[in-house]
Amino acid sequence: MSAQRFLMVAGTTLNGKITDGNGSFLPFSSDEDQKWLKKMINDSDVLIVGRKTYEKHAEIGPLSKPHIVFTQQIKGIQIKRDNVHFFNDRKDDLINLCDILQYKTITILGGSEIYHWFLKEKILSDIYLTIEPHFEGKGLNLLSGPSFIEQEKWKLKKTVVLNSSGTLLLHYQKK
Ligand SMILES: NC(=O)c1ccc[n+]([C@@H]2O[C@H](COP(=O)([O-])OP(=O)(O)OC[C@H]3O[C@@H](n4cnc5c(N)ncnc54)[C@H](OP(=O)(O)O)[C@@H]3O)[C@@H](O)[C@H]2O)c1
Repeated sequence: MSAQRFLMVAGTTLNGKITDGNGSFLPFSSDEDQKWLKKMINDSDVLIVGRKTYEKHAEIGPLSKPHIVFTQQIKGIQIKRDNVHFFNDRKDDLINLCDILQYKTITILGGSEIYHWFLKEKILSDIYLTIEPHFEGKGLNLLSGPSFIEQEKWKLKKTVVLNSSGTLLLHYQKK
């Protein structure tokens, strides 16, 4: 169980928005970040998303990796089709599910409600933030949900400038 790593992966604007006013991050997302994200997904055992993000991505194309989809429309855990688990349970049950299915590299792809839950529950081991050099007046903030006190400490492990426009990838690890 201790071998599990829960990685939060998000792309934001300079003012911390993860979408534009139409609910999309694509207008901001650089090719270099898309390439990095693809590799990150390839290296993951499972992807965790909120139901809204899942529906948005299902519109885009087939799912390449096992998914755990958070939704409050069910109780507990439901397997709807191959490799897609719907989840509405406690933190310990998520850890046990990943343990049973031997998921070790667990990548949290958002959206803002899901990032909020993982930070609140203090499960994350790493945070990868890509900052795209734009400002957005509308759109969703990185976190949405009731306020909580962040008690964890994060250490900056690595920064990478992904392109000449100044897209910056930050990697933090729990201290
Ligand atoms: N820039 C980025 O890196 C990035 C990454 C991912 C997503 N996004 C964008 O973010 C937007 C979606 O974010 P969002 O915050 O609106 O929605 P979301 O986090 O994707 O999904 C929210 C849904 O997840 C379920 N949920 C939330 N908390 C839960 C919990 N504790 N237990 C069980 N289920 C839970 C609920 O589903 P039910 O309503 O079914 O109960 C809720 O409506 C999209 O526009 C997407 O494009 C951006």
